[in-house]
Parts: sequence; structure tokens; C-alpha cells
Amino acid sequence: MQDDFPQSIDSAEAMSALGERIATQLKPGDVLALIGDLGAGKTQLTKGILQGLDYTEPVTSPTFTIVQEYRGGTLDVVHFDLYRLSSAQNLLEIGWEDYLDQPQVLVVEWADRLPECMPAGTHCLSIEHTPEGRLVHYAPLD
Ligand SMILES: Nc1ncnc2c1ncn2[C@@H]1O[C@H](COP(=O)(O)OP(=O)(O)OP(=O)(O)O)[C@@H](O)[C@H]1O
Ligand SMILES: [Mg+2]
Repeated sequence: MQDDFPQSIDSAEAMSALGERIATQLKPGDVLALIGDLGAGKTQLTKGILQGLDYTEPVTSPTFTIVQEYRGGTLDVVHFDLYRLSSAQNLLEIGWEDYLDQPQVLVVEWADRLPECMPAGTHCLSIEHTPEGRLVHYAPLD
């Protein structure tokens, strides 16, 4: 995945299309961390990933629910938004370790809030606002 980046993405549609391409590379057990400012496009990218895995239901941001599960597509996906979590304890309380143990893909917005909770081998994409749109980097999570 790393070799495909950086990529300049100039519209929401292009962000979805990037998600669909990423979806073809995902496998059970993968954790994909998405980092970037408010409105960067993390949820838009996730929507593309879910489309690529044949989910047709509406995808909503789990900002308030923290976690949203998608099952029955090509791969099971669990979408997290850590924006409102303040400690690793909060994440453990919603069953983070059980989620990690299952053969599914975890997509984690705002993973940089709790980087210590992300397992070794986590893929990390950072989305940066640019005058043209967005620049998506493959970046180490630190
Ligand atoms: N590359 C892009 N160019 C222009 N608009 C984009 C791009 N990517 C996403 N958008 C649009 O920007 C808006 C915010 O995107 P999104 O909700 O995905 O951000 P987010 O990073 O998930 O924000 P939050 O941190 O609040 O969860 C949406 O309307 C989305 O369609
Ligand atoms: Mg979001």
C-alpha cells in the first residue's frame, strides 16, 4: 500500500475512488488508521472503502457512536472515530481488544488521539488540506 502514496485528491468523488482502490488491498486483521484535521476526508475515504467491499447501505460518521460495524460484505469492517475519546481506557471499555482479535478490518479515524492503542503493522494514511484539495500520505503513526 505504501508505494501508492503520496496522492493528490481533488474532489470528494476522487476520495471515494481512492477508498475503493484501497479496499482491494485490505485483508482480515488489517488496521487502517486515518489521520487529518476536521473535514479532511477521513469519513469520505471510509465510504469508498465500504463501497469497494460491496456495502450499499448509507455510511454515517461514528463521531457520536464511536464505533459502527459493517458485516456481510466482502470483508467485515469496523469503523471507529476516536475524536471524542480521551483515554485508552475508553477504547478498551468498548471492546477494542476483542475487535482486534476478529478476522475483520478496522478503520480508525483520529487514531492519532490514541496511537499507543494501535497494533504493530497498522497502516496509516494522513490527509492534508492543500489549495487544490487534499494530499494523502502513507505515514508512520507516532
Ligand atoms: N479530496 C476532497 N476534496 C474536496 N472535498 C472533499 C475531499 N474529501 C472529502 N471531501 C468533503 O469534505 C467534507 C468533509 O469530509 P469528511 O466528513 O470525510 O471529513 P473527516 O475527515 O471525516 O472529518 P471529521 O474529522 O469531522 O470526522 C465532506 O463534505 C467530503 O465530501
Ligand atoms: Mg469523519
